[in-house]
Amino acid sequence: MDAAQAKAYKPEDAFFSYKQRDAIIYALGVGCAVKDDLKFLYESHEDFQVLPTYVVAPGLLANSITDCPGIEFELAKILHGEQYIEVYAPLPTEADLRTELRVVDVLDKGSGALILSNLTTFDKNSGKKLCMQQFGTFQVGSGKFGGAKTCPEEKKCVPIPERAPDAVLEQATSVDQAVLYRMGSGDLNPLHVDPMFAKMSGFKTPILHGLCTMGFSTRHVLKTFANNDVSKFKAIKVRFSSPVIPGQTLVTEMWQEGNRIHFQTKVKETGKIVVSNGHMDLTDVVFRKPEVSVSDITNNLASSL
Ligand SMILES: *[C@@H]1O[C@H](CO)[C@@H](O)[C@H](O)[C@H]1NC(C)=O
Repeated sequence: MDAAQAKAYKPEDAFFSYKQRDAIIYALGVGCAVKDDLKFLYESHEDFQVLPTYVVAPGLLANSITDCPGIEFELAKILHGEQYIEVYAPLPTEADLRTELRVVDVLDKGSGALILSNLTTFDKNSGKKLCMQQFGTFQVGSGKFGGAKTCPEEKKCVPIPERAPDAVLEQATSVDQAVLYRMGSGDLNPLHVDPMFAKMSGFKTPILHGLCTMGFSTRHVLKTFANNDVSKFKAIKVRFSSPVIPGQTLVTEMWQEGNRIHFQTKVKETGKIVVSNGHMDLTDVVFRKPEVSVSDITNNLASSL
C-alpha cells in the first residue's frame, strides 16, 4: 500500500442515472414496507420520496479504488468499515448524476488497511452539488505497511450516550434481504450471495451488506425522529462492527441530543452490536413514540441472549 500514490489518483468522473423504479427497488432492499413506508414504494404517492442513503449506489459505482495505483486491492479481503453521508438537498425522484472520487488516505490499522475515499455527487444537468460521502473500506491483512494510523480529514464516529435509549425500533430482515439489496444498490460483491465465496472470505454463510443494515438504521431513525421526512436528513455516520446474517432481526437503539440522534443497531438473536456509535444529524426533530416500548424490546433482547 502506498498512500501518497493513492492520494494522487484522479480518475474520470462516474455517471449514474436512476429512475423512480430504481429508487423503489433500493427502498425494498433496505426493508421499506407498505404499512409505514408507502411513500418510498409508490411513484404516484402524493409525497413520493427517495431515501437519502440511496446515494450509496452512485457512490459505490464511482468508488473505483480497485484501479487505484498504490492500492493492492483484493476483493476477497474487503469489508465495509465505516460510512459517512452528508446531503445538501433531497434527492430528485429521478436524476442523472456525476460523481467525483478522491482518495483521502490509506490508513495503517495493523490488522488491515483502511482506505478512506470521498465521493462527491452532482446533478449532471444543473451542476448542483447534491451530496458527499466518505467510504471507509477495510482490507483485512493488508496493514503494517508503515502508513499513518489516523488522518485529520477522517469523518469520525461519536460515542453513544451512557443513559438508556430514548426509543428502540426492531425489524426482521428477510433471508433474501441481501439478494434484493444487491439489485437495489448495485453492490454485486459475491460475499453477499455466493456461499463458496463467503467461505473463502472466512464466513460460514453469505452476510448482509453493511450498507443495507445502515439503510434499516436510517429508516428507523427517520421514522422515530423525523416523521419519515427525508428533507429533515442532513448527515449520518456509522461504523460496521459485526456482520449480519440475512434473516436476523435488527434492533436500533436511539438517543436524542438536540438535532443529533445517536444510535446503535444490534442483532436481536445474538445481542451483538452491528452498527456502533452511529449518529444522524437532522434539520429539526419530530419525535414519534414507537408503538412498542423501549423496555418491551430491551427485555426481549436480554431474554434472547
Ligand atoms: C474529504 O471530505 C472531508 C469532509 O467533507 C473533507 O474535510 C476533506 O477535505 C475531503 N478530502 C478530499 C481529499 O477530498
